[in-house]
Amino acid sequence: MNRVYIKTYGCQMNERDSEAVSEMLRGRGYSIVQHEEDADVVLLNTCSVREQAEQKAIGKAGYLKRRLRKNPNFILGVMGCMAQNRGVELIDKLPDIDLIIGTQKFHQVPDHLDNIFKTLEGQGPKPSTIVDLENEQGSQNTIVAHNLDKRKVSAFISIMQGCNMNCTFCIVPKTRGRERCRPIESIVEEAHELVENGTKEITLLGQIVNSYGRREIPFIQGKSPFVQLLERLNEIKGLERIRFTSPHPRGFKQDLVEAYRDLPKLCEYIHLPMQSGSSKILKKMNRPYSRERFKQLVGDLRSVVPDMYFSTDIIVGFPGETDQDFELTRNLFEEIGFEMAFIFKYSTRTGTPAAILEDQIPKEVKEERNQILLSILEKASLKRNQNLIGTTQEILVEGPARKGENMFVGRNRGFRKVVFSGSERLIGELVPVKIEEASVTTVRGSLVIQ
Ligand code: SAH
Ligand code: F3S
Repeated sequence: MNRVYIKTYGCQMNERDSEAVSEMLRGRGYSIVQHEEDADVVLLNTCSVREQAEQKAIGKAGYLKRRLRKNPNFILGVMGCMAQNRGVELIDKLPDIDLIIGTQKFHQVPDHLDNIFKTLEGQGPKPSTIVDLENEQGSQNTIVAHNLDKRKVSAFISIMQGCNMNCTFCIVPKTRGRERCRPIESIVEEAHELVENGTKEITLLGQIVNSYGRREIPFIQGKSPFVQLLERLNEIKGLERIRFTSPHPRGFKQDLVEAYRDLPKLCEYIHLPMQSGSSKILKKMNRPYSRERFKQLVGDLRSVVPDMYFSTDIIVGFPGETDQDFELTRNLFEEIGFEMAFIFKYSTRTGTPAAILEDQIPKEVKEERNQILLSILEKASLKRNQNLIGTTQEILVEGPARKGENMFVGRNRGFRKVVFSGSERLIGELVPVKIEEASVTTVRGSLVIQ
């Protein structure tokens, strides 16, 4: 009765939260299974950023409910952003649901499940839906557990929770609450523990990582708390690569630009959300930077790291986005030459300021703009990959490739996926690979024998 399956929707933050919940549950004697059919408990860790993401999770929960009827002791829970966003209203849609767990209550999941199982063992009726959605001071410090039975070459560390920005399109400040950070020492300790277990790469997670600790931790010699954290992590012996997601253009100061020059472990890849290339739209989005400022920031980073890889988030079809506004986005997108991007069609989120703006953009227009950016992205990504042909790249080997005997996959410092013929013992190693072939998403090469 203690097999749990967790399905995760959405971003890396959600992945990390699910991982921590899994680990907390394992610590209580639950086993984590890989297929929902094998589970006594299914937990959906949900996303609310777009309507579609919520619909998917609701659809899944509805499907699982049919299973509920066959096994009255089957337990279904919804955790995370949609739980927080919709709250008890979810019970109307999903009357058989057992748990609704908010974004500051992940660490309570083991207790709640224990209680449900205790009642069931005592032959009692299944308790009515448990709803746990309060804010909890210090909850950002509870997402720390990792499975150290397995070696993880690359690991996420959640350094903060919440967001104080209020972009007009975004539901995250509602679902994730106010910004709260973890202490530097505790993050460094978590990284040490991972590295001792064989981790070579860490990715720091937060809604706006460069605002990490701004209210709690003093600047030192002009260096922000986030840069101080990066410096500390850079010192960890055995750690090879540091990444983070996502920074915000606001408050992205010279100290962070220079960190790319000064910290050898900080990889030359950055996910820097642009959202739009029109200053007018940026203003309506409540994004406190202009097209020019964004361009300048990219230039500043390139002047320190000329072959920096850039990734971004773009929203097409924000209310009031005219053809001219889109053209500004299109040409800046092309000019910067992002190698990676998440291009979103604007999705109305009830309760956000943009939801009630006039001039909502028709679906077809959003779709068309989406396709235009996607095709530019494909070209830029292919070009960047082709430029790698003939070079030797340092690859961190992650594991077997999806296809091909003895084929392995890893990434270069620029986060490009590289496939090559290798062997099991290279997993977790940095190896030189000479690049021979390139497609839009993947490059292939051969191990350079030293
Ligand atoms: N600060 C976070 C952003 C979280 S939301 C980060 O940078 O990691 C992730 C992305 O979803 C945003 O950057 C934005 O491009 C997109 N997004 C948010 N709300 C949206 C909406 N209502 N419609 C479409 N895309 C949205
Ligand atoms: Fe959302 Fe803007 Fe914060 S995109 S997460 S409100 S920076």
